[in-house]
Amino acid sequence: MDQKEALDKLLEVIDRIAEGDYGEEIMSLTREDVPEPVRTVAEAMGLMMVRVEAREFHLENLVDELRQLNEQIKTNTLATVSAMAEALATRDAYTQGHTARVARLARELAGRMGMDDEEAELVRLAGELHDIGKIGFSDTLFDDHGQKIEGDLLKQITKHPALGARILAHLDFLGPVSEYVYCHHERIDGKGYPRRLQGEQIPLGAQVLSVADAYDAMTTDRPYQKALTHQEAISILRKFVGQRYLPEVVDAFEKMMAEKD
Ligand SMILES: [Fe+2]
Repeated sequence: MDQKEALDKLLEVIDRIAEGDYGEEIMSLTREDVPEPVRTVAEAMGLMMVRVEAREFHLENLVDELRQLNEQIKTNTLATVSAMAEALATRDAYTQGHTARVARLARELAGRMGMDDEEAELVRLAGELHDIGKIGFSDTLFDDHGQKIEGDLLKQITKHPALGARILAHLDFLGPVSEYVYCHHERIDGKGYPRRLQGEQIPLGAQVLSVADAYDAMTTDRPYQKALTHQEAISILRKFVGQRYLPEVVDAFEKMMAEKD
């Protein structure tokens, strides 16, 4: 190989390296028959590339580690929030089991409403956490289920969606979950609470959640109410279509429950 040929080849390889192609070609210019100074330059570049590759490998490992740490933080935070939900369940016997059932129903219903797996999973989490704001209730609210609730106590109840949303808002990886929690007592006719949102102002995830929540509440024994049958609960959901619930959500829910039998 003469000097001109070697230099041309070197420039060609450098061009490719500049484009990110770290092939082995530079090594062919470090052979004995390649004239100086092309050989010396090629050897130096070869060494440089080895160092760059080692650094890239190190960086990739660091990014992997960061990704794993990030996942761990998410898991731990969720565990903390779930622990709060469980702490709430120990104060309120009725909450026990309710959240898990609502979460399951809401997730399945979300899938039927065309939400993808990731979106449906967020609806499930919202089901798990929807009443977390009740953590701020006074004990009276948990003890006196049988009595008429009014005045300050009623005010406390209507605050739980906002308090729940505020607790969850800091966990940005939960995405729309805090908004679902915020909206789970809204009605499409605008007569719900706390913001009196209407129709499409209420996200689909929250519409799904409120149907699952209402159904489970109606079909469970509570101190002030004997559990309704499946059919009775469905008729009540039907009755409130267009007021509390979207017709398509109640339709999908009815179909889903019918297929379970
Ligand atoms: Fe609630």
